[in-house]
This record gives sequence, C-alpha cells and structure tokens, in this order.
Amino acid sequence: MLNRHGLVAGATGTGKTKTLQLIAEQLSAQGVPVFLADVKGDLSGLSEPGAANDRVRGRAAEVGQNWTATGFPAEFYALGGLGHGIPLRATVTSFGPVLLAKVLQLNRTQEQSLGLIFHYADQKGLELLDLKDLRSVVAFLTSDEGRAELKGIGGLSTATAGVILRSLTAFEAQGMATFFGEPEFDTAEFLRTAADGRGVLSVLELPAVQEKPQLFSTFLMWLLADLFHDLPEIGDADRPELVFVFDEAHLLFKDASKAFLDSITQTVRLIRSKGVGVFFVTQTPEDVPGDVLAQLGNRVQHALRAFTPDDRKALKATVKTFPDSSYDLEELLTGLGTGEAVVTVLGERGAPTPVAATRLRAPESLMGPVDGPALDRAVRESSLHARYAQAVDRESAFEKLAARPPGHPAGETKKAKEKQETAGAGDRESGEGRSVVEQVVGSGVFKSLARSVGTQIGREITRSLFGTARRRR
Ligand SMILES: Nc1ncnc2c1ncn2[C@@H]1O[C@H](COP(=O)(O)OP(=O)(O)OP(=O)(O)O)[C@@H](O)[C@H]1O
Ligand SMILES: [Mg+2]
Repeated sequence: MLNRHGLVAGATGTGKTKTLQLIAEQLSAQGVPVFLADVKGDLSGLSEPGAANDRVRGRAAEVGQNWTATGFPAEFYALGGLGHGIPLRATVTSFGPVLLAKVLQLNRTQEQSLGLIFHYADQKGLELLDLKDLRSVVAFLTSDEGRAELKGIGGLSTATAGVILRSLTAFEAQGMATFFGEPEFDTAEFLRTAADGRGVLSVLELPAVQEKPQLFSTFLMWLLADLFHDLPEIGDADRPELVFVFDEAHLLFKDASKAFLDSITQTVRLIRSKGVGVFFVTQTPEDVPGDVLAQLGNRVQHALRAFTPDDRKALKATVKTFPDSSYDLEELLTGLGTGEAVVTVLGERGAPTPVAATRLRAPESLMGPVDGPALDRAVRESSLHARYAQAVDRESAFEKLAARPPGHPAGETKKAKEKQETAGAGDRESGEGRSVVEQVVGSGVFKSLARSVGTQIGREITRSLFGTARRRR
C-alpha cells in the first residue's frame, strides 16, 4: 500500500529520519527501490551494517525484533556534483519555466514571461541546455536587434525580460550554473534493483547545498515530474515501482506560486497510478497544503511540542487531520518518546486503519552518516560514474547566438564570440554553423532558423505539468 502516499511528521529530534530509514530498509528488502533526499547527510548509513550498541539492542528487545546488522544496496547522488555523489544535472529546457521561476523567485507575471521565452526558444530551435543558453536568449530579446522578435512574442515586455535577465545573471553569480546542463540525469536510474533482488536506495546527498533550499527542493520536484513523464500507467499495482521521499518538504511549498502548487497537487494525484508512492517529511502537517495533505493516507506522526501558544494551535490542527480515535491524541502526541509515533495507514480496502501508538523498530543499517571518502569510493565504483561524472557543453542557444555576424551587437555577444574564437572552429561542425549564420543574415534574425534547426534536431518539445520537457528515450 506504499504506492498510496504518506506523511512523516514530528518535532525536531523525534525520529523522523530514522523512520525513513526503516521504511527504506524494508522496501529494499522487498525488492522495491526508494529515492531519498538526504538533507542533513544522516541517511548515508543505509549502505552500511548498523552498530550493535546498547541503544539499538535495547530497542530491538523492546519491540521483539530479531535484529541483524545489514547494509543495503545504495547509490549516492549529489546535485551538480557538489558533495559526495554521482553528479545530478538537468538541462534548462527540461527543467522548464515553472520550476525555474520558483528557484529564481520570480513573481507571477515574470513566471509567465519566462514561459513565453521558453516557448520562443523551443520554436526557434534554440536549445536551452545550460543557464548561459537561457541568458543569451533573454539578452538577445532585450537587445536592439532582438526587439522586433520580442514584440512578435506578444505579452512579453522589455522591462520584464530585463528583470528576468538580471535575476538570471545574479543566479549564475551564486554558482548555480553547475546544476544545469548535460549529461542530463535519467530518472529511470532510480527504478533499479540489485543483483540480489533488493531495491536500490538512491540517496541524494544534499548537505553541500543545504543553504540553497529553493534550489534543492525544486530539483526534487523536477525528478518527480520527470518520473511522471516517463512512467507508464499501471493502475493499482500490488507493490510500488518506486517510493519517493521528500525530506524537509516545507521548503517545497514555501513561497510557491499557484502554478507550482497546482502542479505538485496534480503530479502527486496522478503519479500513484504509475506506481510511485510519495512520502513528505515535515515538522507539522500544516506545512503541507490541504489538497496535497488530503492525498497522504499513510501517516507516521512523531511527537509534537506544546510549549508556545503557536505550538498548541499547531497541535490541535494536527489532531484534526487524524481519523477519530479512542486516544486523547493531544496528550498522546506530546508524550511520545523518541522513535515512537502515532500511525495510521491505508488498509487493503483503502480505508484508514485505526490510529495506533507505535514504538518503531531499530534500523538494521548504520544510524548516521558514512564518511566522505567512503562515499567517494562508492561513487567511483558505481556503474553510473562513466555516464554522469563529466559535464559536457555541446552547441546550443549560447553558441548559436554567439555565432551571429558582427554588426549585430546583442548584449553579451562580444564576449561569447571571443569564447567561440578561442574554442576554435575545428571542434564544431563549421559548415552547419555557417549555414545558420547565413540564414540569420539572409532572412532577418531567426526567420528560418526555426524550420531548419527544428527539423535538424528532429524532436518536438512538448511541455506538460510544470512545463518540464518530455524527452525521447
Ligand atoms: N527507531 C529508532 N530506533 C532507535 N533509535 C532511534 C529511532 N528513532 C530515533 N532514534 C534516536 O533518536 C535520534 C533522533 O532521531 P532522528 O534523527 O530520526 O530525528 P529527526 O526527527 O529526523 O530530527 P530532525 O528534525 O533534527 O532531523 C537518533 O539519532 C536515534 O538515536
Ligand atoms: Mg531528520
């Protein structure tokens, strides 16, 4: 029933992360792969057998658990290669305008304008692989020669394009370029099982980007949206294809636009029939919008504090989100010990089971982090290393725009041209580059670029939920 979504909540230090560890261990043992966002770095221990200390032995004895130290098959990832893991990148085009607007913290008008810019680039065959591709397209549209194009787009003002350009420049200056580009991560990697039949645990190590919550939480959403695109409908399967865990989920919803929230709600609603269960992890259920919360039938609620009036209000609100029970939930929830929780799950008929006060098992894998060198070794030995370790920068919008002839001074073209000259013409198919330039000169900027490049790339970009792009695999 873990393809029905769930929520793990509770005050800090009450055992939420260990509960995730337990869920992941047992799913893996049953052959179900799991994706986990490791925000604090304390989930990497999943790959190592646990240490049999007094605490663990005590807990195992209390719950009648036959405890055996066990490590689980795990793959470690790191956003943009920052930290210990296989680098995980997305192309700008596949990330799409809605998610990018979220990380750029654009307002509604700017978000819509960004959508128009993506649409323009899609139509013109200007591939948006990395941030400089997008920046050069916006710079072009705000330049003297691009102004006519910008007018043609309709609904996009020079002023708004200027704001977007500035926020992109600032974003790049914060070192964000490393997260976007190729090779793009294929989320199908998350769906693997190990040779022994256990589900692979894909652990996204996030400590290195902890200070960039907007970025990593939006990236998690991209991963989910990408899975959504690619997975077939399977209806009500007897087991999940993947369980996807969003830790620190409040970051996802904070300051989110309506378009973004609608997309989350829809993705979560529809992805269940593709066999993906989603778990959100937050301190209180109040962090999760009502439309999403209503879909989270599997609930593990750890202890809540009731120190301040706000705490008490949150406590009352949390109690209301549970099915009726014979417990005094307010009292129970404030009295739970570490690694204890109030649990209700969806039964086989889809109805919630009665609320049960529960003491959780002890994890059989290592509680806490594995050290960096050990993670780095795992990464070097991974079969995915060859495919994703090295970033590549192939010809895309930036290079195409930079290849325009002189006398068309657009924003940053000069610098881009220099870069292109130093890169040398030899490493690019200059014949193809030439013809693009000629078309630009011959027919007014980009008039025929759309047709020629569009067919040359040979793919049609369709944008759906979140405006993320669908690729052919
Ligand atoms: N099921 C469990 N079995 C044994 N020990 C546990 C269990 N759950 C929690 N603990 C103990 O409680 C500590 C805190 O748990 P955990 O890190 O999961 O809390 P958390 O709710 O994720 O905290 P935070 O909000 O700070 O991330 C653990 O380091 C461990 O010692
Ligand atoms: Mg935690």
